[in-house]
Amino acid sequence: MPPVIDRSPDKRVYIKSYGCQMNVYDSERMADILRPLGYALADGPEGADLVVLNTCHIREKATEKVYSELGRIKALKLERASAGERMIVAVAGCVAQAEGAEIMRRQPAVDLVVGPQAYHQLPELIARVHRGSGERLAADFTPEAKFDTLPVERGGTGVTAFLTVQEGCDKFCAFCVVPYTRGAEFSRSTSTILTEARALADRGVREVTLLGQNVNAFQNDEGVGLADLIRSLAKIPGLDRLRYTTSHPRDMDEALIAAHGEIPSLMPYLHLPVQSGSDRILRSMNRGHTADHYVNLIGKVRAARPDIAISGDFIVGFPGEREDDFEATLALVRAVGYASAFTFKYSRRPGTPGAAMPGQICEAEKDSRLSRLQSLLEDQRLAFNAKSVGREMAVLFEKRGRHPGQIIGRTPYLQAVHVEASASLIGRIATVTIASAAHNSLAGVQVLETA
Ligand code: 5AD
Ligand code: SF4
Repeated sequence: MPPVIDRSPDKRVYIKSYGCQMNVYDSERMADILRPLGYALADGPEGADLVVLNTCHIREKATEKVYSELGRIKALKLERASAGERMIVAVAGCVAQAEGAEIMRRQPAVDLVVGPQAYHQLPELIARVHRGSGERLAADFTPEAKFDTLPVERGGTGVTAFLTVQEGCDKFCAFCVVPYTRGAEFSRSTSTILTEARALADRGVREVTLLGQNVNAFQNDEGVGLADLIRSLAKIPGLDRLRYTTSHPRDMDEALIAAHGEIPSLMPYLHLPVQSGSDRILRSMNRGHTADHYVNLIGKVRAARPDIAISGDFIVGFPGEREDDFEATLALVRAVGYASAFTFKYSRRPGTPGAAMPGQICEAEKDSRLSRLQSLLEDQRLAFNAKSVGREMAVLFEKRGRHPGQIIGRTPYLQAVHVEASASLIGRIATVTIASAAHNSLAGVQVLETA
């Protein structure tokens, strides 16, 4: 018997996203799938008919957070039940993929578990919960099926949007769970991406960030690569700013580097994780590139687009990392000069090669290396921001600020800018003179509206 899907209106869903931008995108798409079933978005889990935790498995802390949140949700679910109402609890995302039905055993308040490639099956899973029979776990790897079933329409009202174009990873870095939770590399067809991008532009979106675990490995069945895709997207009227993240140094090809110098709407910002500056550690991480290779790549990108802002990811305390390896990371950071960065202490993930390696580093040493690395990167970030002072920059305004009369936007280099100006500028690009710089933001004075 096919499941009966409840389409009665006035239901409320609370979706909480953990981890990366791909999860933010997936959460928005789950809302798009659930909307036709009568679910409106709720701001919190209280009183929600459906709670979805869209989880992250990348580091141990991220995973543990999910179980503590589930404890709180369980209390709310019991409260509702005592009032004769029902709350369905769903776990989605990478913890769902990695732990599967184990989640329902560890926390019986969980009604269903759905992996990142299977969430198009949510309506059916919800129907099975209501019916009280049938499999309540969907964790198959079917990205094609997922993208074919997602509605073209996208909810939301923002000026900027994410658009997943690629998923999965074939690289198998020794520290990383992603190849196991998101599956093999898969790239969407050009037509489905362009249709979704046009729908976003029609909704007033001005900036689209293309997402993928290895977005620069994008290569679909039609033989289209990321540079070609960006060229096609750049022709869509209204989409003034394009970005992409996250990239792998091994997939940074000549065409994409050249695109940075040729496509005006491709913003001068590149997030290119390196993880370590030591060749010995890079080898042991199975990264497939050396420190020199990375620094040379950055040089080529800067030759194509001299003002580009560089960002990266770093892991300190990978098994076997010695003081001289860590110093090689500091040396690489000095050689590159970063505008921003994300730094992490190595987290031992069960099932990954790194977890079984000898030479695990103690927490105290990881803490000390992390703070040394962060202090260097913070200095670089401030220096990058300070260079903006006195300059005129094109700022895309996204939202109101915390103080009355203040609005917040971003420069092409992804720096946040606070300006005292009319909220009618939200959704527009204006020229701003940068008056001062701090670590995390700039302050400016609006000069004139440009678009
Ligand atoms: N421990 C610490 N950091 C990790 N990352 C991925 N796996 C781990 C891990 N096991 C970091 C990498 C990656 C970013 C998304 O998360 O720096 O680029
Ligand atoms: Fe993880 Fe490496 Fe894949 Fe990035 S490329 S997601 S770090 S395995």
